[in-house]
Amino acid sequence: MEVQKILVMTGGGDAPGLNAVIRAVVKRAVLGHDWEVVGSVESFNGVLDDPMRIVRLELSNVAGLLMRGGTILGTSNRGGPFESPVRRPDGTIETVDRSDELIRRLHRIGIDAVVSIGGDGSQRIAQALYEKGLPIVGVPKTIDNDLDATEMTFGFQTAVETATDAIDKLQTTAESHDRVMIVELMGRDAGWIALSAGIAGGADTILIPEIPFEVDHVAMHVKRRRKAGHHFSIIVVAEGAFPLGGTALTVKEREPGRPNPILGGVGRWLGDELEARGFPETRVCVLGHLQRGGVPAAMDRLLATRFGVAAVDLVAEGCFGEMVALRGDDIVSVPIRDAITRYRTIDRDHNLLRTGRGLGICFGDVVPRS
Ligand code: F6P
Repeated sequence: MEVQKILVMTGGGDAPGLNAVIRAVVKRAVLGHDWEVVGSVESFNGVLDDPMRIVRLELSNVAGLLMRGGTILGTSNRGGPFESPVRRPDGTIETVDRSDELIRRLHRIGIDAVVSIGGDGSQRIAQALYEKGLPIVGVPKTIDNDLDATEMTFGFQTAVETATDAIDKLQTTAESHDRVMIVELMGRDAGWIALSAGIAGGADTILIPEIPFEVDHVAMHVKRRRKAGHHFSIIVVAEGAFPLGGTALTVKEREPGRPNPILGGVGRWLGDELEARGFPETRVCVLGHLQRGGVPAAMDRLLATRFGVAAVDLVAEGCFGEMVALRGDDIVSVPIRDAITRYRTIDRDHNLLRTGRGLGICFGDVVPRS
């Protein structure tokens, strides 16, 4: 099949570096292959809407995009072609499968291949569309770094930079007031952001979903630090972390067309528990969407750019159903299927965890020596 026109879309929560991928895709497709590139606005919604929201992407559209956060195409983390939300006459929402219609519409506008930039949800959709015969390749994105089959997703390193900067700032105010400062970070059910930023920012305690914690251990660690002359403490808690025997706290449950609940609240909960254990000067900071915004870090721009070029090359080689991935220092391709079979969490013997334990950081499962 000779490719002449490709469609690119960004799906799921935004991540710094999305625009850098779009730029790289357009440059490689136009300069390397003379293809036409179009973008679907707000994930696949742009193709499914009437009138369609499809934009032509030329070199002039992507100039200056490298350092711009967000995505010029817009994105959506609910619905999708297999679970497209439709409002019933009684006001409730039901979801319908519009995947066949999506493929028909793509044919109608002459799309030869699709580049899907997204996290696990978007790659699941990409795999299902591929199984229905759509020529599609994947580019792994998420600040959570939880996609399997790639050693890193773009967006993660910027989120870690932002979170580390926040911890640095909290250190000075915590020290001035002899306070326990809790900072709640994103990451869904994986602790990559919390563990990385926690170590980089010099946190005393790091709580991640992979290690259920005991509040008494955390309190004891703070107490021991005080005895040792350190009158303030920085506790980093991942939004998906939970106490032993408990479950992660949510601020919003699953909804039709949205497979994941919105996590949050563990920082406040832990603050109350510590106050009840004799630490009234406990303060909580929820970093939230600051971790998703802003200028992408240089390393994310690089990874995003390498992924974008490699994705176009996959299309040129006809390697559909494949996703670009970082392996060592190389960009390789893996079946999209491999990226979505397993959720990538932190192994108990991961070097970052061993490093943290070696530094005397408390992970809430035991009380380390202070
Ligand atoms: O997956 C990225 C992420 O930022 C998670 O870390 C977080 O749990 C979730 O998205 C928040 O989603 P929303 O932007 O819909 O609130």
